[in-house]
Amino acid sequence: MNNKFVIGNWKMHGDVATITNLIQELINNFPTNLSCTCAVLPPSIYIPKVSELIKNSELHLGAQNLYPQDDGAFTGEISGKMLNEFACKYVLVGHSERRHILHESDNFVAQKFHYAKMSNLIPILCVGETLTEREKGLTTEVITRQLISVTEKANNNVFENCIIAYEPVWAIGTGKTATPDQAQEVHSFIKKLINNQTTPILYGGSVNAENAHDLFKKPDIDGGLIGGASLDPVKFLKIIKTYPI
Ligand code: PGA
Repeated sequence: MNNKFVIGNWKMHGDVATITNLIQELINNFPTNLSCTCAVLPPSIYIPKVSELIKNSELHLGAQNLYPQDDGAFTGEISGKMLNEFACKYVLVGHSERRHILHESDNFVAQKFHYAKMSNLIPILCVGETLTEREKGLTTEVITRQLISVTEKANNNVFENCIIAYEPVWAIGTGKTATPDQAQEVHSFIKKLINNQTTPILYGGSVNAENAHDLFKKPDIDGGLIGGASLDPVKFLKIIKTYPI
């Protein structure tokens, strides 16, 4: 797997017209010498549409969520088996909006993480501290807890074939980015903790065309998980073109 990534998390934004335009702009202006993998994560209802639109392009597809069962009486949920039907390759698990707004526990996130892998999807495991936690000096403790929860009842290779995204909650959608040094410090901590130098660790939280270069050139930052700026093709393409650094 290519070890640098720029992934756009569209969250609950867009409609058929804007999404079609966004994908067409991305495909028409996609760089040829790209040295990172680029994927988009549309709202689930648009996954079939985007899957069709990106066929034969360099763009990859992922989902923002899944439920850890192949099928059953789980109203409103979507399984890994369903995502596979539309060539999804990646899936977010543990995004802070799901942890905090939808109250998903570490344990539930861990179930989704393992189920995603069993479904041949690459989970993008999001971890990150709130502002209060950072101010109390609890950043590494919180991240350790979030990461350790997926290692319980798992084998030694738990962090193979996955991506980790460090997303400080205070930086998501706030315009307040972690400085490259702050992010690097946490990324280096994560790399040591998981003891796997090949697992890509992305930074997320108000990444934009202006700050991407300084963040991505840090040794332990392997790319970005981009929210707001991924909805604008010009901005997203600028971020993608940060590679090769
Ligand atoms: P943001 O979102 O880039 O809008 O801060 C990042 C994310 O939530 O993944």
